[in-house]
Amino acid sequence: MFDRISRRYDLMNRLMTGGRDVAWRRLAAREALAGGRSCVLDAASGTGDLAIELARQGAARVVAVDFSREMLRSAAEKLRRLGHPHIELVCADAMRLPFPDATFDACTIGFGLRNLPDYQAGIAEMARVLRPGGRLVILETTPVRQQWLAPLFHLYFDRVVPLIGGLVSGDRDAYGYLPRSTGAFPDAETLAGMLAGAGLAEVRFRRLMLGTVALHVAIRPCAAI
Ligand SMILES: C[S@@+](CC[C@H](N)C(=O)[O-])C[C@H]1O[C@@H](n2cnc3c(N)ncnc32)[C@H](O)[C@@H]1O
Repeated sequence: MFDRISRRYDLMNRLMTGGRDVAWRRLAAREALAGGRSCVLDAASGTGDLAIELARQGAARVVAVDFSREMLRSAAEKLRRLGHPHIELVCADAMRLPFPDATFDACTIGFGLRNLPDYQAGIAEMARVLRPGGRLVILETTPVRQQWLAPLFHLYFDRVVPLIGGLVSGDRDAYGYLPRSTGAFPDAETLAGMLAGAGLAEVRFRRLMLGTVALHVAIRPCAAI
């Protein structure tokens, strides 16, 4: 599915969020790099926007992993165009990351966790490649809590987004998947509990965009997980 929409993926992100996704990735990168000029893994990196933001904010090394070859192809074109040839692109499954334990100072995942077949196992795998003291940063859609907003949000997300997605990308099905996967995703408190359940510490989150997006941060403790 992501192979099919790779060409128009960035444009759809800007349209769907009114361009706010750029600011959210900026925040996510800032959280990831709060520990210093780090070596960072961006999991489910897609067309590489979060990886590029990490490099822009001064990460010492950025590795971007995705299993969609077409998303990575779009990322590679963009890296060449924007002059970030040092970002490493790796085609791999985020559920089985091809890196030894404790490789990275930080790991980010932007709008990717929702797509993994097992959220808890995905979190454990990202935690595995973090060095002790390393940071896991998750940017993801989150179920709406405010009762007044829910009908408006569902009208937009369940009807308008697939319609625009169909027109822009030619793939209405793919943009129908977006509300389905978001509806099935745990709320921000539950996700925080899952991070703690994976042995991560100092778990916190903030809501963005009227509470429709959440940014979670957690630290791999220095004692073994
Ligand atoms: C919604 S896109 C997010 C892309 C990017 N992180 C962003 O911020 O826009 C989800 C990405 O996750 C990738 N993905 C989904 N499941 C994956 C998995 N198991 N392993 C690696 N990548 C995966 C898809 O190929 C897609 O590029």
